[in-house]
Amino acid sequence: MQKILVINSKGGCGKTTLATNLASYFVSQGLSTALLDFDPQGSSIRWLSQRPKSGPEIYGVHVASRKNNTGVTRAFQKRVPPETERMIIDAPAGVTGYELKELVQMADTILVPVLPSSIDIHAVTRFIEELLVVAKVRQLGLNVAVVANRAKKNTLTYRSLERFLKTLKLPFITTLRDTQNYVHAAERGIGIHEMWDKRTESDKAQWRPLLRWLEDVYPVKTKRKIAH
Ligand SMILES: Nc1ncnc2c1ncn2[C@@H]1O[C@H](COP(=O)(O)OP(=O)(O)OP(=O)(O)O)[C@@H](O)[C@H]1O
Ligand SMILES: [Mg+2]
Repeated sequence: MQKILVINSKGGCGKTTLATNLASYFVSQGLSTALLDFDPQGSSIRWLSQRPKSGPEIYGVHVASRKNNTGVTRAFQKRVPPETERMIIDAPAGVTGYELKELVQMADTILVPVLPSSIDIHAVTRFIEELLVVAKVRQLGLNVAVVANRAKKNTLTYRSLERFLKTLKLPFITTLRDTQNYVHAAERGIGIHEMWDKRTESDKAQWRPLLRWLEDVYPVKTKRKIAH
């Protein structure tokens, strides 16, 4: 099972958007998929409840409260069906310290979405430092990558985010543009890979490097080959 944690201590940077679109992509590829929502707000689980009944099913777990409960994080993983091939974990904002370590230890792959704003750039610098120093993602051998989100290309803030991400010692995998397609998909409980109109084509193209990277870093061979 590939376990993908979507996390950034900064709120509103696109964690749920990335997590739900990933889950929707994997399930639409015929992979058995679970979505673990660690946010008390339960946005991913709400998204799941909006899913069309006719579509392929994603197994959802909402972990609403885990404070002061050592080991609870990983106990929830046991609730995921054993046949699960992709487990996506949607983290809440503000996770640090022990809680961060616990979540990180559940995963083999970590995605950090970042928005193009000076506040977000500043916040993610500290967060990445914490991932490396406190959560020790390198020592654990985890694959960590950064995704720029809500980009408006040719703006100064996007260019400074891009410059900043290229200086990191972590792979900067792709840039997702700012588009209502994600907002519409979220309302319908689907992802952009389940939308077929032409307007989503450039978004799907932006996802391709990320999907390829996820497949490359997953060491265990999957039975089914995924078409990008
Ligand atoms: N690429 C995008 N284009 C347009 N809107 C987006 C994009 N990504 C996210 N959004 C919107 O931005 C808002 C915040 O995104 P999201 O909920 O995914 O962030 P989050 O990191 O999960 O937030 P929180 O920290 O509250 O959990 C949502 O309304 C979402 O629809
Ligand atoms: Mg969220």
